[in-house]
Amino acid sequence: MRIGFLGAGRIGAFHAEALKATTGVDDVLIGDVDSARAAEVAHRIGARSADSVDDVFAAGVDAVVIATATASHAELITRAARAGLPAYCEKPIAVDLPGTVRALREVETAGTLLQMGFQRRFDAGYRAAKDAVAEGRLGRLHTIRAVTSDPAPPPAAFLPLSGGLFRDCLVHDFDAVRWLTGREVIEVFATGANGGAAFFREAGDVDTAAALLTLDDDTLVTATATRYNGAGYDVRMEIAGERDQLVVGLDARSPFTSAEPDGPEPPARPWTGFLERFAPAYRAELAAFVQAARGEIPNPCSGKDALHALLVAEACEVSRREHRPVRPAELLTELADPV
Ligand SMILES: NC(=O)c1ccc[n+]([C@@H]2O[C@H](COP(=O)([O-])OP(=O)(O)OC[C@H]3O[C@@H](n4cnc5c(N)ncnc54)[C@H](O)[C@@H]3O)[C@@H](O)[C@H]2O)c1
Repeated sequence: MRIGFLGAGRIGAFHAEALKATTGVDDVLIGDVDSARAAEVAHRIGARSADSVDDVFAAGVDAVVIATATASHAELITRAARAGLPAYCEKPIAVDLPGTVRALREVETAGTLLQMGFQRRFDAGYRAAKDAVAEGRLGRLHTIRAVTSDPAPPPAAFLPLSGGLFRDCLVHDFDAVRWLTGREVIEVFATGANGGAAFFREAGDVDTAAALLTLDDDTLVTATATRYNGAGYDVRMEIAGERDQLVVGLDARSPFTSAEPDGPEPPARPWTGFLERFAPAYRAELAAFVQAARGEIPNPCSGKDALHALLVAEACEVSRREHRPVRPAELLTELADPV
């Protein structure tokens, strides 16, 4: 399979290298608005580069991977759909609901595959937790605690483009909660804080956030995120039921120090970031894309899944700004002809 690869930035360089080593991939042709960056990454990983995005689409590729900056996703998804090409796209489709719905309609009309990049669906811990829930090993769930804590803030220039902490960061937790439980979020109540650098507030964002979600089976979920977790990169989900509880992301590298005199030692090498923590999951999701594009497996993470995760994020953003509980469904009904 010949892959047209768009976006040679932070995650793009990683994904392109992973794809290059994926069974069934014969060629990776990299394009970026910064053609020098595309050429540099291609040279480093032994792939080919194109001078422009147009050249990638004109090259007769079999599928497209989109790892460009968020603002370009909807347009590139649309372009791939109109060209009849299966596409994998990093989250999100767009930072707003109307833009997301427009792109999804294009995909629906074209009847093409769109797989979205929620890599936690391919992480061993999240998968084991999903199996445990599905098999009833935890009993009736009552509480889920989801955590995404970055060790340090991103560059200030990234924030206005990111969509904010709920849409950029916690959206992963929202997708994981829906996927893992098979339940929908019926109400959110969210807040945020700005104790750190002024550029968060200036971008209309928060550096720390918390949300309380109610699922349609009455499970309660707390989801928190911060850009200031000096101890390390902490992505965790605690899933508690009547019978047992499981923790995703609790291992020898979890960035904790026990306050107990006889507690475990702190990790020698705490997780530092997403590329390290989720490397196997990113590889697995791209391998799944190649299989899905060939029609060998069903789409493991659809555009509609991304829409529903974004709806929860959007509801949290409204809740934070308006200081009120918000039902994601009320935002969906505001959209004309939602997909
Ligand atoms: N799933 C995850 O865990 C995860 C982690 C990080 C980033 N992401 C997502 O990946 C995307 C990229 O993030 P990043 O951190 O690699 O950003 P980045 O800024 O490092 O790289 C983005 C690249 O896209 C290129 N680009 C921008 N617009 C383009 C266009 N129209 N056509 C072609 N190239 C274009 C830029 O020149 C740049 O090389 C974002 O949407 C982000 O949300 C996902």
